[in-house]
Amino acid sequence: MNHNQIKTEFQGDIAKITSVEEINNLRVKYLGRKGVVTLALRELGKLPQTERPKAGKALNQLQAEIRNELSKKQKELSTDKFRAIGETEKIDITVPGIAPERGSLHPVGVLISEMEDIFRRLGYSIVRTREVEDDWHNFEGLNVPADHPAKDMWDTFYVNTDSADNSRHTGRVHLSTPGEDLADERYEEELEIEKGELAGLNLLRTHTSTAQTRIMEEFKPPMKVISSGRVYRYEAEDATHLSVFHQLEGFAVDKNLTMADLKGTLTHLFQSLFGSDIKIRFRPSFFPFTEPSAEVDVTCIFCKGKGCKSCGGAGWLELLGAGMIHPNVLRNMKIDPAVWQGFAFGMGPDRIAMLRHGVDDVRQFFSGDLRFLRQL
Ligand code: DAH
Repeated sequence: MNHNQIKTEFQGDIAKITSVEEINNLRVKYLGRKGVVTLALRELGKLPQTERPKAGKALNQLQAEIRNELSKKQKELSTDKFRAIGETEKIDITVPGIAPERGSLHPVGVLISEMEDIFRRLGYSIVRTREVEDDWHNFEGLNVPADHPAKDMWDTFYVNTDSADNSRHTGRVHLSTPGEDLADERYEEELEIEKGELAGLNLLRTHTSTAQTRIMEEFKPPMKVISSGRVYRYEAEDATHLSVFHQLEGFAVDKNLTMADLKGTLTHLFQSLFGSDIKIRFRPSFFPFTEPSAEVDVTCIFCKGKGCKSCGGAGWLELLGAGMIHPNVLRNMKIDPAVWQGFAFGMGPDRIAMLRHGVDDVRQFFSGDLRFLRQL
């Protein structure tokens, strides 16, 4: 082939190129040891003496031209789609990256934040108090008598630390079930206690009403407080019961507070969450720390009161306990009940989140199964 034929063939070849690999193939085809140009140069000797210089010059020029064209094309392809790292490794910058896993908020946490936001706008302080408590703040201070069945070891997790030493509240948790062998060897000390001795032990709070005793002993009224978090009960777990679950507690202490303030506050909460057609109603009930006490029902958020499967046909959902803070509780906190009144309420965000998302087994929320959580 003379240099014109080679040039024509090369131009045809390079026009078809789409990848860096093909460039390397062309480089071998034309410039390699047995390449077209290399062979043509070697054949020069066969030409008559007079033609050699001209043909040689043309071939040398062509060789340089091809080298140039190839590297130009390579650059083109690399900057277009590939970024060359060194000679061998290439990264295709157009391939979509692998997105890092992103976390998201838990549906129960989302609900709690929404409620806290509603109360924050009403001027409430949002506080968290400890999960390991002493008997007094969980029971006695809240007017729960010493022989109340809720204090039974079957309901309450006691903690194997000295109640006089609150700083040790991260101490090892001992599930005290007298007579039952503790499967976990780390809890080697069997805790044998009589019922009367329970008062001296620390415990995992059984409700967030402990925020009342913790906050009222430290701050002077008036006050408006919301406190949520984990609570613990020694319960067999099933679709509607967990031994570790959540509560949201609210209370206010001020002058001239009445049940009407309580009702207005709760109406505002549930209308903000579920819509302005939601109503609430009180049914008489009993809690040691409130007098009078009420169970509070909220218009069924699904049928809006008509009656459906979710509310068992009643049109109402039983969502919380509430009442006027018992004068004994105020007295325990050195607050004069003749001057100050309070209302309080407590509810389970887990249950409300179940309703909101149509989840019928509360254990699913905390099973750690991301496939479940991602659906919500
Ligand atoms: N602490 C109660 C419980 O765990 C819930 C409750 C009821 C809280 C009435 C209150 C209240 O503040 O007034 O069942």
